[in-house]
Amino acid sequence: MSEPKKLYIKTYGCQMNVYDSERMAETLGGKGYVETQSPDDADMILLNTCHIREKAAEKVYSELGRFKGLKAEKPDLKIGVAGCVAQAEGEEIMRRQPLVDLVVGPQSYHRLPEMEAKTRDGAKALDTDFPEEDKFEKLKNRPKAKRGPTAFLTVQEGCDKFCAFCVVPYTRGAEVSRPADRILSEARDLVERGVREITLLGQNVNAYHGAGSNGDMTLAGLIWELNKVDGLERIRFTTSHPNDMADDLIEAHGTCEKLMPYLHLPVQSGSDKILKRMNRSHTAESYLRLIERIRAARPDIMMSGDFIVGFPEETEEDFQATLDLVEEVKYGYAYSFKYSTRPGTPAAERPQVDPKAADDRLQRLQALITRHQREIQDSMVGRKVRVLFEKNGRLPGQMVGKSEYLHSVHVSDAEVEVGELRDVLITASGANSLAGALV
Ligand code: 5AD
Ligand code: SF4
Repeated sequence: MSEPKKLYIKTYGCQMNVYDSERMAETLGGKGYVETQSPDDADMILLNTCHIREKAAEKVYSELGRFKGLKAEKPDLKIGVAGCVAQAEGEEIMRRQPLVDLVVGPQSYHRLPEMEAKTRDGAKALDTDFPEEDKFEKLKNRPKAKRGPTAFLTVQEGCDKFCAFCVVPYTRGAEVSRPADRILSEARDLVERGVREITLLGQNVNAYHGAGSNGDMTLAGLIWELNKVDGLERIRFTTSHPNDMADDLIEAHGTCEKLMPYLHLPVQSGSDKILKRMNRSHTAESYLRLIERIRAARPDIMMSGDFIVGFPEETEEDFQATLDLVEEVKYGYAYSFKYSTRPGTPAAERPQVDPKAADDRLQRLQALITRHQREIQDSMVGRKVRVLFEKNGRLPGQMVGKSEYLHSVHVSDAEVEVGELRDVLITASGANSLAGALV
């Protein structure tokens, strides 16, 4: 029997790319590929890329340049670019970097086996279509391997919101929801393979409206169906848009026992002027009232968010409004980014903020967020949390898992296995994690 071919996939960007990379590895597994952790012994290298900010996209080209030596040594090595840079730049990638044999957009992953065969014949393969078929259904020839206790599951893809800064509506296309029965059968399959926690993914996950048995189902409806799956212990979802936080979803946060008390709800800015220019169609006030309602349903919910500083025409006063909003919400986690001009998006045409001022604002915002994060993490000391153990820690005898609030928690010298859910009393708060003892 011939040696299996080796596939090296490097994933950039969001969790959806992590999920997609797993699906690509499985589908190429059907063509005799096994995954390797190093590009040096690979027969095929795939970069699953992110186009969200300029830096993310540029990284791809510098990474590709590094494979020049490898390809010279091993002419049979095939190099592919997948993901949002592939979608946005298409053929341009092969022009700019002739090493590249294959370019595949996120909606065409199910065509990878044919594309791979084409590259083996010495041709270049390019596919950045938005086909009508359900690619995940076509990607289903997965081996039934055991899995770790947590998994991502894509339920919705694409976005119709067209925030003025964002490339996603162009790279991932229009909003599409997968039918509920397919998601449920995928979830059952994951649970059979050892998964205890599923994070439902979508660029606009709470806009989910997939076909159910009685018409369209909401995200809350889907969560309630998943709640019935035996062996599944925890449900999370990301990323949500404030405008799609429906009443049934807010209510589920108070009543659905497997739904974790954590919500990633990006607001981007605290200034109504900027929000309007971002085409966000909510205000700072409406966002704050929404959080009040969510906290009324689930008082201990951990809030998380995304912010952009230095959006075109942002003044110091606008930025102050962002700081005020952060002060009011107090996020357990938050991600803040300096605005990055994306060609083709409306904001790219607007007067840009001085990069020095933007850097300064980013630092101030991150300092405030870090302070809150720290205070919230420290406030866990003395509390009992429930931990899903995911892996061995760095030290001998140490086990690491996540609390319901997504804090990393480690315990030492405890009788606990990966995949177990146990109550832990938190005894200390470190730099990026909590320590505790089994109760
Ligand atoms: N510049 C900076 N940050 C951006 N994001 C999206 N587009 C841009 C951009 N052009 C951020 C938003 C979004 C997160 C995934 O990335 O905050 O919520
Ligand atoms: Fe990157 Fe956004 Fe594409 Fe995810 S959807 S890979 S974050 S550009």
